Amino acid sequence: MKIYARCSGQPLEPADLLAVGCFENDKRFLDKCSSLDVAAKEKIYKRLSVKKFKGTFGDVFLVPGLFFKTARSLLLIGVGKKEGFSLDRVRRLTAKSLSQTKLLQAKSLRLDLDTIRGNFSLADIAGAAVCGARLATYRFDKYKSKPSPASCIENFELFAADKKNARVLGQVLAEAEVISTGVFLARNLANEPANVMTPQRLAQSAKAMASKHHLTCQVLGKSRIKRLGMGGLLAVSQGSIHEPQFIILENHVKSPKFSQPLVLVGKGITFDTGGISIKPSNDMDKMKFDMCGAAAVMGVMQVIADLKLPIKVVALAPVCENMPGAGAQRPGDIIRCMNGKTVEILNTDAEGRLILADALSYAARYKPKAVIDIATLTGACAATFADLAIGLMGTDAELVRQLKAAGEATGERCWELPLWEAYADLIKATYADIQNISKKYAGTITSGMFLKEFADHTPSWAHLDVAGTAWNEGGAKPLSPIGATGVGVRLLVELIKSYL
Ligand code: BES
Ligand code: MN
Ligand code: ZN
Repeated sequence: MKIYARCSGQPLEPADLLAVGCFENDKRFLDKCSSLDVAAKEKIYKRLSVKKFKGTFGDVFLVPGLFFKTARSLLLIGVGKKEGFSLDRVRRLTAKSLSQTKLLQAKSLRLDLDTIRGNFSLADIAGAAVCGARLATYRFDKYKSKPSPASCIENFELFAADKKNARVLGQVLAEAEVISTGVFLARNLANEPANVMTPQRLAQSAKAMASKHHLTCQVLGKSRIKRLGMGGLLAVSQGSIHEPQFIILENHVKSPKFSQPLVLVGKGITFDTGGISIKPSNDMDKMKFDMCGAAAVMGVMQVIADLKLPIKVVALAPVCENMPGAGAQRPGDIIRCMNGKTVEILNTDAEGRLILADALSYAARYKPKAVIDIATLTGACAATFADLAIGLMGTDAELVRQLKAAGEATGERCWELPLWEAYADLIKATYADIQNISKKYAGTITSGMFLKEFADHTPSWAHLDVAGTAWNEGGAKPLSPIGATGVGVRLLVELIKSYL
């Protein structure tokens, strides 16, 4: 499917379908629409006066017609109430318009952006529409012998009246394509089964991506990991036949906005059985998604490289498999992490924080401007927020605020949980400095408290728990089919862009 922009004045090919947005109870919703002539508008208003279409969000209404010059049929899309209008609605209604287009077996869709503007800039609306269109049409069917037939939609045209917009629209379109491609990378990596996407394979993928997008990629193997004293990463990996990997990606910026880099850290457990504290078998297959954090930071790096953003960013991904092999760590084991702190392992299924601990310590060498980790860390986070929010914790109120804002802008919403000092008591160990779980309560917060012990070298650290949002298992959603969502890519790219 080709996505392109047109402004009035440029020649308009007749589209199979013209999608026009209608805010709830807006009787004159076609006034802003310049892709229809006055006669057509009057006919549509007349048709609608006998119908029940009110413009409720998610409603669609097809006006088949031979009386439009610029389109064969008209698709009215409910935009919902003016209050609370968001870019996320634009993404979703764009996805909806395309799924309707597919149902009708039409080949081309024009979306009139001026009818879904609200108070947003045309650039924001256009970017959201492109992302909505791309994210909704993602498929992972490489292992299907007979993949379901591809969509028949050939052209998706974004239309805006004002000719002055043509250049801006072109730029926004290209940028949204790059961002969507980054989300697709994250989804593709995470959707691969764990027998394919082994730690070595993920490291290879990082190298391949880096050389294609002009990033530096260094992969540390087991011996380097040992020499660095990464006791957490070693301990988690020791039950698996696959050796641990530590991926380091860096972009190159000629005149960076800040001299210190932003460091991103992504959890890369290619499969989480729980180890000796083994998980129940129900849904254990989903634990191939336990590297979604690593996949997300790789997606972010690809995007910022392609957009040539003038911000230095380092991405770190500790990668291994959590297996209950003969060499596996046991409950009660005590390990020493890279920063010297000792950890009593009370549950080998709380492995993510152990590998992140070493990556966070490693981040110190960059004297970072800020450190952000992203991880499918706790089932408790999914229990708290379902798939509707990322659990956010951090030591820097400004960074937390920026992440929240980026979450609202992208629809990858974040909600903060406290890291009060009193919570530290819950992970004080009997025999070591700290233990890797709290006995009972506050599972998500105490995982954050644990990580904080390893991020104390920087005044600015935040943790994103994407356990509830990293994959979708309930059925296709507007912006993602079943499987990895690529969550975090758009959020973190938006954050980095907000630094400019
Ligand atoms: N990868 C899991 C967290 C997870 C579970 C994410 C389910 C998404 C869905 C993590 O390694 C884990 O097992 N966490 C444990 C921690 C517990 C032992 C303190 C959990 O959440 O049960
Ligand atoms: Mn686990
Ligand atoms: Zn895990």
